Parts: sequence; C-alpha cells; structure tokens
Amino acid sequence: MSSDILSHRLSDLPTQFTQPHTRVWEPIDWKGISRDPIVGVDPDLFIMLVAGATEIEAPIREYSQESWNYMKSIHPQMAYFMGGEQRPDGALAALGVWEKEERQHAPTFSKIYHLLTCKKLQPKPNSVDNDGASKSAADVYRHILSRISTEWGATSVYLWLMAHSTGALQQAVAQPLQDEVNHLAKFWGFCRWALNGTYFKQLKGSTQNLISLMNHHQGERTHGGNILGVATTVDAVELAFTFSRVMVRLHTWNQELSNSFLNHLFDTQPMLNEFRPA
Ligand SMILES: [Fe+2]
Ligand SMILES: [Fe+2]
Repeated sequence: MSSDILSHRLSDLPTQFTQPHTRVWEPIDWKGISRDPIVGVDPDLFIMLVAGATEIEAPIREYSQESWNYMKSIHPQMAYFMGGEQRPDGALAALGVWEKEERQHAPTFSKIYHLLTCKKLQPKPNSVDNDGASKSAADVYRHILSRISTEWGATSVYLWLMAHSTGALQQAVAQPLQDEVNHLAKFWGFCRWALNGTYFKQLKGSTQNLISLMNHHQGERTHGGNILGVATTVDAVELAFTFSRVMVRLHTWNQELSNSFLNHLFDTQPMLNEFRPA
C-alpha cells in the first residue's frame, strides 16, 4: 500500500471509464490450503474472520445496483464502473468492473472456509436498502463514504488474515486483498476529487460509517456473536492496529495527492459542492 501503488491504482480509474478491464488474478494453489499455515492466532478466530469476510462480500449484485442508483445522476461513468449498464426497463445490459471483481471474493473465501473446516458455509448476505428513490446530495455523500469504509474494512481484515498465514493460504487471501486496495484507492481519490472532501471529514465519516455498518450487520453474521468470545485482547488490539495502519497510509497518500493531479486525471474541474452535506 505504498503511495506509488495507490496513485497507480487511482490513475487507472479514468481508463476504466473508456476501456473497462478487470484486474487479473494470480492462480491460487487450492490443494496447498490447510490449517497448518495459520500462524500466531487461534485457528478458530482466523476461520471466523474468513466466514465474516464471505458474508460481508454479499450480496454483490444488490450492492452494485445500490451504487448505480446513487451515482447515475452525478457521475454516469462512475455508475457504469460500479453498477454496469442498465436498459431503460431496468434490466442489466452489462456488469460493471467493480462488480465483476467483487463477485470473485465471496466464492474465494467460501472455498477457503470449506478447505479449512471441511464444512460448507451457508452465508447470510447483508441486507441492502435498494428503494430506488431519488437521492439527496447528502445521501450520495454518505453512500460514497460508506463504500470507502467497506473497502477500508475489507482491506484491513484481509491484511490481518495475510499476517496470520503463510504459503498457499496467504497467497489466496492476497488476491481479494489486492482488489480491495485497488478499489479503496479509486473510491478515495474519486471522493477527494468529486466532493472536494478533506481527509479529516472523510476519516470521521468513514469511521462512523464502519461502526454503523458493523453494528447494523452484527445480528446477520453467522459467527457475529462468537468472534468477541474467541478474540483475546491482543487479537482485538492487533485488529484495531491494522485498521489504523491502513488509515495512516491513506492519510500519507492523501497529503501527497494534489488537486491539479486529480483535475488532470479526471480531465475536468471537481464536481459541485452541492454534493457535500451542509
Ligand atoms: Fe470484496
Ligand atoms: Fe472491494
């Protein structure tokens, strides 16, 4: 997550608007995945977080549709990147790149869970508010921040999983992780440009969104009630540390991102301040 990598991932966004392309995954050595390479943590906690990762990734079609609904009027190209192309009757004509990449994550974690436990996970997808009603500027702002916070959360949890694994298991987690870093850089940079948002406002908003997302979905998690029972204080501190390290990296990068670079990237002036809440 160096600044160079984050800038490179952000620079790819305008290209996605004209030439959509998904990030190519490295092959995963499924036969090499077992409990043995879980290191420095109770394997049960590791597996619970894999289950949590599977569930938070779904239902991606509804997530994408939700983002399309929010973005279509303010930035059709971003709506296309996230939610694809829709016919006037609402039918899906093409998938967006974000959705295509995200679609690979839940099955990957589900397969890892199966290989680690010999049990099939019965995921309980999150609920999504997809009412299709027109959105206010404040709604759009909150939606983008909630997407940033979800990508931040996924990046942090997958980094933690990688830090507690080696070999084929670690390599498997690295694939969704690289997608999440990619999305995080794109959404963050877009938000900074489109909404002219300041870092601290975004951080505050993202933290609040993440907390509300976790609270909102806690009752829907298969292992939601158990994680706190298995996690030690050290585990909790380490997870919190991972979240904050990711945010510190974003902060550093954010300071290096100039407005002229962003305007050059998106080839126009920032979008209207009306999309910022009062
Ligand atoms: Fe994901
Ligand atoms: Fe993502």
